[in-house]
Amino acid sequence: MDDLRDKYISLIAGAADEAALEDLRVQAVGKKGEISLKMRELGKMSAEERQAAGPRLNALKDEINSALAAKKEALGDAALDARLRGEWLDVTLPVRPRRQGTIHPISQVTEEVTAIFADMGFAVAEGPQIESDWYNFDALNIPGHHPARAEMDTFYTHRGEGDERPPHVLRTHTSPVQIRTMQEQGAPLRIIAPGRVYRADYDMTHTPMFHQVEGLAIERDISMANLKWVLEEFVKAFFEVDDVELRFRASHFPFTEPSAEVDIRCSWEGGTLKVGEGDDWLEILGSGMVHPKVLEASKIDPSAWQGFAFGMGIDRIAMLKYGIPDLRAFFDSDLRWLRHYGFAALDVPTLRGGLSR
Ligand code: PHE
Repeated sequence: MDDLRDKYISLIAGAADEAALEDLRVQAVGKKGEISLKMRELGKMSAEERQAAGPRLNALKDEINSALAAKKEALGDAALDARLRGEWLDVTLPVRPRRQGTIHPISQVTEEVTAIFADMGFAVAEGPQIESDWYNFDALNIPGHHPARAEMDTFYTHRGEGDERPPHVLRTHTSPVQIRTMQEQGAPLRIIAPGRVYRADYDMTHTPMFHQVEGLAIERDISMANLKWVLEEFVKAFFEVDDVELRFRASHFPFTEPSAEVDIRCSWEGGTLKVGEGDDWLEILGSGMVHPKVLEASKIDPSAWQGFAFGMGIDRIAMLKYGIPDLRAFFDSDLRWLRHYGFAALDVPTLRGGLSR
């Protein structure tokens, strides 16, 4: 028994890893292990022999088991130490520039737009992306039967079984923020509201989620002339040029009267989009004078106040400014694309410091 003990204690001490230790365990105290077989022999012994050998064998088994357990723990600690040593990382090393993230063009352009309108006295307002159909449609003078509801390819949420209330929608435009802000702040007012909007549409220039920035100015005496000036100032500042040609097209929106859509002159030659040249026009925004019914829905007296509003596609103007041909790539999360079109994180756009690069 002493031989067995010495043999296994020294083998256990020398085990190189947990697998070797497990082999030893099976060999010693496993079902057919050497010590287990010895215990089976107890049955063949006389009662006296058994009384002497039994406790000693049990003690030996316990001793081997605790040696195995102690060694196992030591091996585990050593494995963890080795792993910690292998994965050690010096967080004080300087950053590798190639691993730096970039600011997405949408975020960059949102910041640029915000900087330009802030300079003209516009504050930033926000509203929810899951919107009630009252804010998204009714309050904007789009009643239930109006074709604009169908035209917008609206995503609807589901109500629970038996719940008869109209479903919420993913907002199809940022215009509901007009209503919310007028309700909360009253007149006068000057805000922009950038954010995500949703429509079921998908091709080179449409994605089911895209970005708009809403503009709203409410004053006692304000007209289309103010709207036109603000938009021209914006476009010049945004594209960082003096000569961008805009086209105001008479149009119709239920929430503005009169209404105009604004296109920007551009070219698609060679697959790259260029602003201010060429014979193509790209629609970048809808606009007009706020409809009296919209003021009324927002508890603003239309006989005392009037205003202009516009809604612009942020993705569109980002494509135009930075020559990005396919809108869908904006949302692919392709790192090569992001490195190519992204912006350095610390280049915050300001009017004085320069909007881009
Ligand atoms: N909400 C309109 C759209 O998404 C744009 C718009 C906003 C038009 C404000 C006029 C005034 O198409």
